[in-house]
Amino acid sequence: MVKSVLDTVENEVSHAVGRLNIEQAVQTYHEQGEFLAVDQFLAQPVVDRFMTEVEQVRTQLNRNYIPTHKKGGSVSYFILGQAAPAILSFYRAPDFINWLSRIAGAPLLLCPDSDPHACALYFYTEPGDHIGWHYDTSYYKGTRYTALLGLRDRSTSRLLCRLHTKDHSRETKELTLSTDPGSLVFFNGDKLQHAVTPLREGEERIVLTLQYVTDPRMGAFQRWFSNMKDAVGYFGLPALFRHLSPKAIGSSRRGQASS
Ligand SMILES: [Fe+2]
Repeated sequence: MVKSVLDTVENEVSHAVGRLNIEQAVQTYHEQGEFLAVDQFLAQPVVDRFMTEVEQVRTQLNRNYIPTHKKGGSVSYFILGQAAPAILSFYRAPDFINWLSRIAGAPLLLCPDSDPHACALYFYTEPGDHIGWHYDTSYYKGTRYTALLGLRDRSTSRLLCRLHTKDHSRETKELTLSTDPGSLVFFNGDKLQHAVTPLREGEERIVLTLQYVTDPRMGAFQRWFSNMKDAVGYFGLPALFRHLSPKAIGSSRRGQASS
C-alpha cells in the first residue's frame, strides 16, 4: 500500500518535471533573482490525494499568533511523517529534488529529520490569517530553498513577492500571486522577500511548504534560535520535544538527491 503510494507520487512528479522546459525554467529563475512560479505543476488527482492526508492531520494543527506579523495554523514534519506518506514521498522524490537542483544551480539535500519545518503545512482558515513581509532565512551553513505547493485556495488571500530586494543593480519588482491547487513556487529563502495578505471571513487557503538545503549542518546557537522561532511562530512548544517517527525515518532516504 505505502509502496504503491510512493510509486504513484514519484511517477506523477517525474511526469510533471519531464514536461517542463528546464533551460527556460533556469533562465526565468535567475532573471527573477532566484524565484520561479509554475502554474498547474501537479495535476488535481495528486493534489486530491495530498488533501486526503491534509484532512487527516487537520485536527493536529497548531494555531499561532505574533501580533502585527503573523496569524495562522501549521502542521509540522513530525506529524506529516506519521500520517502523510504521499506528501512525504513528494518532498523526497528524487526526480523533483534533481529538477530543483538544476534550477538552483546547486545540489540540494533534504533538511535533517530533526527540522519540523522540513516539510510542513500552513493553514489559513480564520479571518485575518496572514504573514507579514519576511525572508525564509537560512540558519544552516548552506543555502536554504523553499518550495510552496498550493493545495487549496478558496480565498482572496494572495502571496506577495518582492524580487531583487538585495540586488542594488536592479529595480525591485513586486508580484501578486494566487496559490492555486497544484501550483508551485520555488525560491532562495534569503533572496525573496514575501508575505501573504489577510484571509477574509469564510475563506480557506492551505499550502504545503518544502525546505531544501545545500549543507544541512547548523551551529548550536543557530539551532536553538531556529527551534525557538519555529516553536513560537509555527508549531508550538511541544514540537521542541517531538521527533520524526522511526518508521518515517526508515523510508526517508529513499528520495535523497543523487547529485
Ligand atoms: Fe516564508
